[in-house]
Amino acid sequence: MSSVVGAESGTPLPCISAAKSSGRANRYQSRPTFDEGVLEPYDEQIVNPKAAPPHWAPACTDRELTLHQLSPYIGKLKSVIARDLVEQYTTPGQLVVDPFCGSGTVSLEAACLGRRVFASDASSYAITLTRAKLGPPASEETALCYVDRLGCKIAALPDPDLRAVPPWVRRFFHAKTLAETIKIANFLKSRSQHFYLAALLGILHHQRPGFLSYPSSALVPYLRTRKFPPDKYPDMYAYRPVIPRLRAKVSRAFKRPPAHSPSHFVEASRRSFVHNVTLPPAIDCVITSPPYMNALDYIRDNRLRLWLLDEPHSESQERTNSTLRGFRASMLNLASKIERRTKKGAHCIFVVGERVARSRPCYPSRELARAFLTNAPSFQLQEIMRDHIPDIRRARRARTGVKVEHFLVFRRVR
Ligand SMILES: C[S@@+](CC[C@H](N)C(=O)[O-])C[C@H]1O[C@@H](n2cnc3c(N)ncnc32)[C@H](O)[C@@H]1O
Repeated sequence: MSSVVGAESGTPLPCISAAKSSGRANRYQSRPTFDEGVLEPYDEQIVNPKAAPPHWAPACTDRELTLHQLSPYIGKLKSVIARDLVEQYTTPGQLVVDPFCGSGTVSLEAACLGRRVFASDASSYAITLTRAKLGPPASEETALCYVDRLGCKIAALPDPDLRAVPPWVRRFFHAKTLAETIKIANFLKSRSQHFYLAALLGILHHQRPGFLSYPSSALVPYLRTRKFPPDKYPDMYAYRPVIPRLRAKVSRAFKRPPAHSPSHFVEASRRSFVHNVTLPPAIDCVITSPPYMNALDYIRDNRLRLWLLDEPHSESQERTNSTLRGFRASMLNLASKIERRTKKGAHCIFVVGERVARSRPCYPSRELARAFLTNAPSFQLQEIMRDHIPDIRRARRARTGVKVEHFLVFRRVR
C-alpha cells in the first residue's frame, strides 16, 4: 500500500507503510517524525478515520449561546461539536479539562451541561475570554447598568498620554476613541472585570459601525485603508464613542443566554503554558485542541487585543509550541500529566489539524498518538474522526494551512 485515499476528501494520506515503500518515502524516512513500528497499532485508524457526523457541518452561529460570539478567536472549535463531545463522553458532575482552552468553547458548553470545568491557556486573551464566558453578569439588565456606571466613571478620569502608545496601534484608531478605549480597558483590568473587558476586545477592530477601529478585519487586525480610503469614506475615520458600542455588544451577548450561571461549575481557569500547568486530580475527560504547529500564530493574529491587555507575554514557549519539536515536547508532557491525573475509564479527545502544510509536512495525529503510546500507556486510541474545516473558520483562506482536522478519542483502559 503506497498511500490510502482519505474517506471523504480523496486526498492521499501517507502512512507508515507508505513511507517504507513509496518514492516519497525516503523524505519521510529521513525525518524523525515517525518511530518505525511504534504506531503500528493505530496505523489503520490514522489512515482511515471515520467521517465526522454530518450535523457538525452547518454553521451554528444562529443557534448557539451568544456568549460564544463575545469576541472572535482564530482556530475556535464549533460550539455544536464541543457540546456533542461533552454530551457523548461525560455525565453531569464530571470534571472536564481543556489545557488549550482558547476562547473557552469547550469550557462554556461543559459548564452549561452541568460538568465541572478546568481551563488553561498560555494566552492572556484566551483566559480573559474564557473567564468572561464562564462568569457573565447575572442578567442583561445588570450588565447594562454596569456599563452606564462605567461611562460616568471613565468620563471623570484623565486621558492617557497617547505618545506612549506604539505608532502601529495608533494607526488603527481615532485619537479620542483610542484614549477612551485605553481608559476603559485599564479600569476593567484593575477590577478583573473579564466579561466587560472581553466585550471591549470583541468590538476592538472591524469596519462595521459598532466597532472601534478604522476599517479593519475582525479576526486578524489588518487595516483596510485601500478598500475604504479616508477621502471616500470619512465617516469610517471619525471618532467612535465607546460606551454606546460596548452597551450594544453586551446586549448582543445576552440574546441567547445560558439557562443557568456557568460559574457554579468552574473549578479553575488559569493562564499557564501547558508545560507548567498543574492539572487537577481525578479528571473524567480531557477535551482540547492544541495549536496547529505553525499553522496559526496566536500572538501575531491577536496582537491588537494582546496589546490592550498589556500583560507580560512570554512568546518563546508559545512560538516553540508551534514547531514540530515544540509540539512533540508539549504533547509528551501533557500525556504524562494525563496519565497521572485521570480516572480509569476517562476519555481524552484531541482535535488536531491534519495535515499541516509547510515546507515539510507534519502529521499532528501521529505525533499525538505517539505521545500517548510513550507517556500515557494506560490509554488506548478508540477512534479517529475526520472533519473538514470550512474556510469561514480559517484565518487565512487563500493559504494552504490546515483544511482537515482529526478528532482522536483515547480511553483509559486500566
Ligand atoms: C486551537 S487553539 C484552541 C481553540 C479552542 N478550542 C477554542 O474553541 O477557542 C490552541 C490554543 O493553544 C494556546 N497555546 C499555544 N501554545 C500553548 C502552550 N505552550 N501552552 C498552553 N497553551 C498554548 C493558544 O493560545 C490557543 O488558544
